[in-house]
Amino acid sequence: MKILFYSPHSDDAPAWIASLTRKLHGADVRLWTPGDVAPADYAIVWRPPAELLAPPRGLRAVFVLGAGVDALLAHERRSPGMLPPDVPLVRLEDTGMAEQMAEYAVHAALRYMRRFDEYELAQRQSAGDAPWRALEPHPRESFHVGVLGLGALGAHVAKTLAALGLPVRGYSRTPKAIAAVATFAGQGEFDAFLGGLKLLINLLPSTPETDSILNARTFSHLEPQAYLVNLARGAHLVERDLIDALNAGRLAAATLDVFTQEPLPADHPFWRMPRVTITPHISALTLREPAVEQIARKIEALVRGETISGIVDRLRGY
Ligand code: NAP
Ligand code: GLV
Repeated sequence: MKILFYSPHSDDAPAWIASLTRKLHGADVRLWTPGDVAPADYAIVWRPPAELLAPPRGLRAVFVLGAGVDALLAHERRSPGMLPPDVPLVRLEDTGMAEQMAEYAVHAALRYMRRFDEYELAQRQSAGDAPWRALEPHPRESFHVGVLGLGALGAHVAKTLAALGLPVRGYSRTPKAIAAVATFAGQGEFDAFLGGLKLLINLLPSTPETDSILNARTFSHLEPQAYLVNLARGAHLVERDLIDALNAGRLAAATLDVFTQEPLPADHPFWRMPRVTITPHISALTLREPAVEQIARKIEALVRGETISGIVDRLRGY
């Protein structure tokens, strides 16, 4: 079995290749380099160039080293035919990302509920003379949290927040039942999901239907002085609307892990907005060993002729 590996940001490709070779019992795994047009059965990639995937290499499946496939599908739209239509595109399902997302979301929710962001701001803006003053925390029972997306990551985040005793709602395309989480599905239930939320957390995939979903209209349905946490993709957010909502006091603060342009340019206004917290796309990193384990098990299943989960519906976009 021949396997191509490619990840432009990974400086530990040898470790990935060694792990894949071990888990696939001696498969021939090679690092793709420009000009390599030799046949391969599977490709394991992150943001590959078109020539890596283009037929007639004979690929039986393409595994993406992440949960989101929006960049690859956008690349295919720019270079039609890059992804052979009959070759399954398979994404990572959790592989340790759900726990990381839950840690991030719990940190953000408690930081805002207990108003630690305001103490941090007061300390940063003072010269040792920050007011010694207690702020009343937001009452837990009315700190309504909404999670957009109830897939591998969003469902775990929603359950973890609910286990803290927070009132949690979740929103998905198709109906879901999750203990202790009030669930809403489809556009018809979107406004009811949003109504009165104090904290909105985004974990949707970026698709033509979901891009720009974090906009002025959405913000207008939240509780006044609500909080936003975007952990999914920059394309979900209408940046101008967030800036206006923060300046107008419609939203109290935002935590952003993802941006339309990454790295976020040095002159971007978000860097200078005291109520915007920025992290560099780290809310859930791809962990090598769980990812290799999942991909190896799926390749073995495909070799046995079995069906696997995690195949992207390219029309739906996730
Ligand atoms: P997933 O398992 O595919 O779940 C996607 C969820 O979104 C599903 O519940 C789906 O509904 C829902 N959804 C999709 N389109 C919708 C629509 N039009 N309206 C309402 N709900 C919709 O994806 P995941 O593994 O949880 O990952 C989610 C995203 O997180 C990824 O696509 C990626 O962009 C992002 N991510 C970010 C990082 C980071 O470090 N910042 C890391 C990993 C992933 P159904 O259940 O009804 O299909
Ligand atoms: C990271 O953003 C991923 O989609 O896994």
